[in-house]
Amino acid sequence: MKKPTKAVIPVAGLGTRFLPATKSIPKEMLTIVDAPIIFYVIEEAIHAGIQDIVLIQGRGKTAIEDFFDTSYELEDKLMRDNKYYLLDRLNEIRNKVNIISIRQKHPLGLGHAVLCAQPVLGNEPFAVLLGDEIMLPQAPHEDYTTAELSKAFEATGHSTVAIMSIQEVDVQKYGIVDFGGRLPQEFPARVAGFVEKPNLNNAPSLWALPGRYIFSSSILDELKNQKPGKLGEIQLTDAMNSLSKKEPVYALPTRNIRYDAGDKVGYPIANIEIGLRHPDVGPFLRNYLQNQLPLLLKQTARPS
Ligand code: G1P
Repeated sequence: MKKPTKAVIPVAGLGTRFLPATKSIPKEMLTIVDAPIIFYVIEEAIHAGIQDIVLIQGRGKTAIEDFFDTSYELEDKLMRDNKYYLLDRLNEIRNKVNIISIRQKHPLGLGHAVLCAQPVLGNEPFAVLLGDEIMLPQAPHEDYTTAELSKAFEATGHSTVAIMSIQEVDVQKYGIVDFGGRLPQEFPARVAGFVEKPNLNNAPSLWALPGRYIFSSSILDELKNQKPGKLGEIQLTDAMNSLSKKEPVYALPTRNIRYDAGDKVGYPIANIEIGLRHPDVGPFLRNYLQNQLPLLLKQTARPS
């Protein structure tokens, strides 16, 4: 089976976890070191051979579209100032993928957002990458999660979703995989179902969905027939559950580091860790963390 060349990135969420910052800036445009979160997500898609990116936008998200537009004055100035390295970084993404933007007119949930991409997707398989989560390989020789999923899809021809193991306290934050009572010995493993954000008592496993998926086009039929689930929204996880009862759906654990960059705690963590890997910023940050931080930690420690 051919690898997918289209990816859907839903960016229509209201970003309420990150107010007031996200009142007028989409959370996907918050900066990690020197690029917006969405930049890293699209880089991951490009590594997987994606050529067309479908952004599902809500109201007030035009800053994301603007980011992918040409900016003549800026580019002209960078050229005149011989700042080609900055120009390259700006163009890195824009020249490699087509960005297609679709408006989700009503905030009816993640599943509904994915379904909005149908006119562009047709009957082809496609990837979904959640727009506020950054996934990075742990080491340079390792692949990005979406590239790994894509390879697995090429081999089986069936929908394959990334999974990660989590702690019991986190079960209610994620879609959880049901392996039918026995944990698989080998991966990718066929799943028996999925549950969106269960209570710990009802959680079928401690394997969660980190927000990276490859689907056969039949998921769109499941989404069309999906009734509102958790929070009264059309849930992608519910459609995946129905799909898994009709055709094989596989799960593949990811070794990538995952940053929940649209979260108040995940955001500074992503800035520090990705900053440490950055060639210009890394040495300064390392120096700060080694020399200043221990003192600051002492000064700001809460009395016990
Ligand atoms: C969404 C999905 C959930 C998934 C999670 C990953 O939830 O519905 O299945 O595990 O993303 O972050 P959200 O975080 O949008 O509430």
